[in-house]
Amino acid sequence: MTMHLALTLHILGVVVWVGGMFFAYMALRPAAVKVLQAPFRLRLWEAVFNKFFPWVWLSIIAILASGYFIIFALIGGFGSTGLYVHIMHGLGIIMMALFFHVYFAPFNRLKKANATESWGLGGDALNQIRVLIAINLTLGLITIVVATAGRYFLT
Ligand code: HEM
Repeated sequence: MTMHLALTLHILGVVVWVGGMFFAYMALRPAAVKVLQAPFRLRLWEAVFNKFFPWVWLSIIAILASGYFIIFALIGGFGSTGLYVHIMHGLGIIMMALFFHVYFAPFNRLKKANATESWGLGGDALNQIRVLIAINLTLGLITIVVATAGRYFLT
């Protein structure tokens, strides 16, 4: 793998993950609140996450594999990268940890709540997911700016 392939993989992962969060938060969420009552809305979100989260896992694998490949195989380790790469790396790891938490904690609770028709619990779980995705979307957008424009002001 060379630089152009690694960067392509990296960017496709970033676009799928951050773009997907933007669509979910900015378009699907307000539309679902407007159109659907709680039971349907909670079931919709479970189905949406079941479709979207495998892509997030794939994106994370692509981002990590390509990012570390660039750093260790192509540019000679973290010692030779700019500050913007360190910040990208740190924010990326935080984003991944938040996603793992969403996946294994509130998303699990949402599925269980839907299965037992406990709409109150499902609403709580969805609310936690909403807050964590709002944070991750914000971090994702900041990380993209740092990763691209950052080289001109964070060297
Ligand atoms: C967490 C582990 C990550 C590692 C190890 C990593 C590493 C890298 C490396 C080494 C580059 C090439 C830098 C250069 O060409 O000077 C790069 C580029 C890039 N990364 Fe990451 N990255 C990570 C996560 C992320 C995340 C989470 C995002 C966005 C949400 C992101 C967005 C970008 C973008 C947009 C570029 C292209 C920069 C450009 O060529 O203009 N990265 N990354």
